[in-house]
Amino acid sequence: MSHTPVAIIGAGPAGLTLSHLLHQHGVESVIFESRSREDVEETVRAGVLEQGTMNLMRETGVGERMDREADIDEAIDISIDGLRTRIELTELTGHQMAVYPQHEYLKDFIAKRIADGGTIYFNTSVDEVSGYDGDRVTVSYTDEKGESQTLTSDYVVAGDGSKSPYRKPVLELDGAVRDRHEYPYAWFGILVNAPQTQKELIYATHDQGFALISTRTETVQRYYLQCNPDDTVEQWSDDRIWSELHARVDSADLQVSEGEIFDKAVLRFRSAVTDPMQRGRLFLAGDAAHTVPPTGAKGLNLAVADVAVLAPALARAVKRNNRDLLDRYSALAVPRIWKAQHFSYWMSSMLHSVPGDPHFQHQRRLAELESVLATEAGRTYLAQQYVGKDLPTFEV
Ligand code: PHB
Repeated sequence: MSHTPVAIIGAGPAGLTLSHLLHQHGVESVIFESRSREDVEETVRAGVLEQGTMNLMRETGVGERMDREADIDEAIDISIDGLRTRIELTELTGHQMAVYPQHEYLKDFIAKRIADGGTIYFNTSVDEVSGYDGDRVTVSYTDEKGESQTLTSDYVVAGDGSKSPYRKPVLELDGAVRDRHEYPYAWFGILVNAPQTQKELIYATHDQGFALISTRTETVQRYYLQCNPDDTVEQWSDDRIWSELHARVDSADLQVSEGEIFDKAVLRFRSAVTDPMQRGRLFLAGDAAHTVPPTGAKGLNLAVADVAVLAPALARAVKRNNRDLLDRYSALAVPRIWKAQHFSYWMSSMLHSVPGDPHFQHQRRLAELESVLATEAGRTYLAQQYVGKDLPTFEV
């Protein structure tokens, strides 16, 4: 039977980044991914990298294409009824951000893992994980050819997204909790063949609802419109999309650029935090443990922050047989998750109008947003939360 120090379930941001960082610490791992490589590399998700994530990519040899191709921005705009206020992220915080789609991030890490001799089993589903309360983990899986296999490991990390079945054993622990929040709105996301509306992102609030202008390349744009959580793609004709985008974003000096829409999807808004994120030799990372709504663009960055703790902690455990950092993984990771949760909730509630909300709430919400934008202290607070804190570092 084969053995690996760390078995990782899921080739998403958490799993791939973890495997790469472990390799940098001289610890090998195996990644199991139920989808095909093409599927992982083509699924469109969010697209903002914090400075800490960009630094990690650069410092560990995965940042070259991001530096060449990403839109590196020093500001975002927040618009109220077409009136834009610039938040000078770099001037206020010294940090930049990159608009670099998650699937491009994943492509870079998959290529690097393969170039470094790493093992990623695509089209491979994990059937059972056992032994995490004991001395050794056993992972039973069905390989690409449909054959049942087993692998043993010292540790197992679930980075398999918000539907992870491995949260269940963690939540069986005494005192374990999963806090959740549902939002009364969602986003309708589109991809468009069009020139950039503007280089920097625009977060726009309007009586008709929120809109976000983001970008993918010079010729492909990513736009979002606030919609109802149970809206379907069929309810949003191209005409309706364009008329809503123009109404919510346009101003005398800026018009949303139009083109052929080639992708439409509804994104649900949810918040969830699992605490702790570990049980014995089993660890949760990224969306398997927590979910944030997309407004703050924190999802991928939080997964990276988790594994910035977990990688040195596992390396110390594997190489030195010292579990002190590993035992504190949840305590070290959870406070950052709550801060991101708060920020995403705060941004979401300031920028979205809730259908049926009393006029009082509507006015209060706008007054809050205007107060934040009107003072340097307010803009600095928003900018600091948006660009995120540096990633933690630990000696192995
Ligand atoms: C995106 O480009 O997909 C994106 C950008 C900023 C956000 C969320 C999503 O806050």
